[in-house]
Amino acid sequence: MTLPPFHPFSLDYTANPKPYFAEFHRSGRLAFLPEMNAVAVHGYEAVRAFCDHPQMSRNPADAGLVDPEQDAIRMARWPTLEGQMRRTVAGDQQGLARMREMLAPDFKPAMIRKMATTVKEVVERICAPLAVERDVDMVTLVQTVPLVVISKLLGIDEATADAEMFLRAAPAYFRGINPLADEDCRDQAEVAANQMFAVLARTVEQRKRDPQTDMVTQVLEIAAGMGDVTTDDVVRALVILVAAGTDTTRLTTSLAVKTLLTHPAEFEALRRNRDDVKNAVMELLRFESPTKFLVRIAVEDVVWEGQTIPRGTIVLLSIMGAGWDPRVFPAPERFDVQRDLKGSLNFGFGSGYCLGVHLARLQVGTLVHYLLDHLPSTATIDEAGMRWDSRNLFLREITALPVHVR
Ligand code: HEM
Repeated sequence: MTLPPFHPFSLDYTANPKPYFAEFHRSGRLAFLPEMNAVAVHGYEAVRAFCDHPQMSRNPADAGLVDPEQDAIRMARWPTLEGQMRRTVAGDQQGLARMREMLAPDFKPAMIRKMATTVKEVVERICAPLAVERDVDMVTLVQTVPLVVISKLLGIDEATADAEMFLRAAPAYFRGINPLADEDCRDQAEVAANQMFAVLARTVEQRKRDPQTDMVTQVLEIAAGMGDVTTDDVVRALVILVAAGTDTTRLTTSLAVKTLLTHPAEFEALRRNRDDVKNAVMELLRFESPTKFLVRIAVEDVVWEGQTIPRGTIVLLSIMGAGWDPRVFPAPERFDVQRDLKGSLNFGFGSGYCLGVHLARLQVGTLVHYLLDHLPSTATIDEAGMRWDSRNLFLREITALPVHVR
């Protein structure tokens, strides 16, 4: 069968990129996309090298890709969205390093273990319909779990209007971060971003006046020791956290359901061997990653195995492609919860490695345990009802996964 041509935004590639991976791994080819001034990279060694490469930046301005006139227009129309993005996700290395310094202690394994009860309580409350309903859309069911977990960890009081505003604004903000979002979507995201920043700023100010034993208070203590850190800097660090940790976790869970229900024997085996759940979380992430591409910009010409990536090229790193590279993960099409996953790039590599890795593994593990308790392996996916939003560059955005539970 001939594959439709590769394109990052095609439904074929978004929903089932595995045949494309096989082709790229066989040929060793980098996939150049001249119309996007981009190249997509799928081999394990190249993805790992480019994650944290001296000639690759996360900031388009570093490669002269930002048109100052267009940039000024965008800044005027979406000051919060553009301004915050510039100073965070695509920010300078120093800013990112400071952000990591501020947040890292809260994400150490010992701190995360303390969060286990909170995470379990949220999962059990939100996923309760799975134990009783006949038909459930898994995407809808799990979508609020990570956001509720993170807002609890940040200490946003659940019973307040701020919590309600935060939970409503955050998804609209995330939709606007997608570079392909249309102008209406970005207008809505600008409003949402302002609301989100305001809620977080109020939480930060409140903790300054009345310190607690929570995450925001600890971040403030670290920030105080770092010198000239403003409330704005702290709020931006918290926004990165929310943006990085919410959609990835929610998509991982929906994709995990898809994998488990299409591998009923492995699902049953996992039910009998709960000790395998930890490794299964990593295998689920390898098998169906929520990440479509990590994005870098080549700031110099970079040569890889005889192929030149010219300066200024947008470099799209496929984490999932790397996880399907048979030279590193033999027989990648086998879903094996006991697979040796040392060297996995599920959570990135190098200086940008995921800060929330332990929280992510805790949340997904808790959700998998809940599925093992309440989702029969006889449940079936309504394939015709599955939906994807393929125009997301960063994430494999599954938007509907209807499951007939019982
Ligand atoms: C299953 C869920 C998750 C996956 C698959 C995931 C994956 C990743 C990956 C691949 C990166 C590297 C990005 C790059 O190099 O460009 C990353 C970075 C990051 N992640 Fe996660 N992540 C998850 C959950 C979380 C959670 C729950 C949090 C925190 C609440 C979080 C916080 C972060 C932060 C702050 C960074 C940026 C680090 C930096 O730029 O220095 N992530 N994540």
